[in-house]
Amino acid sequence: MKRLVDKLRERHELDSEEYRSLLIMHDPQDIEYLFGQAREVSQRHFGRSIYLRGLIELSNVCRNNCLYCGIRRGNCHVSRYNLNREQVMACCEQGYDIGFRTFVIQGGEWGEERSPWIADLIREIKSRWPDCAITLSLGEHPRETYALWRDAGADRYLLRHETHNQRLYGLLHPREMTSAHRLQCLDWLMELGYQVGTGIMVGAPFQTIGSIVEDVEYLVRFKPHMIGMGPFIPQHDTPLGRFPAGSVELTQRLYAILRLALPQALIPSTTAMASLAPDGRLRGILAGANVVMPNLSPTDTRKMYALYDNKASLGAESAKGVHLLADELATIGYHIDWSRGDSPQKKE
Ligand code: 5AD
Repeated sequence: MKRLVDKLRERHELDSEEYRSLLIMHDPQDIEYLFGQAREVSQRHFGRSIYLRGLIELSNVCRNNCLYCGIRRGNCHVSRYNLNREQVMACCEQGYDIGFRTFVIQGGEWGEERSPWIADLIREIKSRWPDCAITLSLGEHPRETYALWRDAGADRYLLRHETHNQRLYGLLHPREMTSAHRLQCLDWLMELGYQVGTGIMVGAPFQTIGSIVEDVEYLVRFKPHMIGMGPFIPQHDTPLGRFPAGSVELTQRLYAILRLALPQALIPSTTAMASLAPDGRLRGILAGANVVMPNLSPTDTRKMYALYDNKASLGAESAKGVHLLADELATIGYHIDWSRGDSPQKKE
């Protein structure tokens, strides 16, 4: 197994059987070796520094009905909210004063009629804080909309592909959504010059090791600047609410494998990791992750943005608790890097 880890570190690619072996190996020493190598590669590129992104949850209104997601259209137990321009600006101001230089604007998928409003918002944030990066995470849109937002000043876009396997995609999403369209959106984003992030939910219902191997192969081919992966966590009002949660350990393995395959990628240790285990965030970093995304949303809307049950949004997960995060990172010898944290990957 160690030989496979070394091979991945050297060649940045394995065949599908080899990826499978790394995903199912069970010797704790082999697993620790994988994490250790990933940590070393991460430290070579980023040191023991962790980039921060301030997450602003713009709205829990969504036109989609994904079977796993707590803010799906069909969930009538959610009270819906939209932040207005002033509220978003206030979040950014607060974040800027704390020291954040990247704002991630995430929300449910809206209709195109509101895209110009988003473009104005981007322009306003950029003119007030030109030294900040703006990341959008607002779902699937026409190429023209992505272009409009890019022209307005958006730098990055997060859109997880969720799963590359068409059959599994179909089991997790309503009929009107397709994996082909999701991948098309990702190609557009890349063409438009965004730093692009994509990724999966680990341990989603019906997912298999085989489908995860397909995801790894897709990620290695697509070479995103950022890779967002977190364990699936059930939300009790969704059709998949009775399935078991994914595992922190398997997610760590994926962080490590992707770190070795794409050494320069920005890999967040996600909120779902912190939600599932008290030491989840640190375990992600110890497996090669190098980004954390604390929550900058207004405290009263945070609980309404419940993608899954028991989602962490307080303490070290909150932007205001960033000193707690710093203390936590210090226990493993890491520290916060307050820069914008752009992708070091060159555009081809
Ligand atoms: N568990 C874990 N992650 C989820 N997401 C949505 N619902 C869940 C859930 N129940 C993730 C999706 C989406 C991102 C914003 O949140 O991968 O892309």
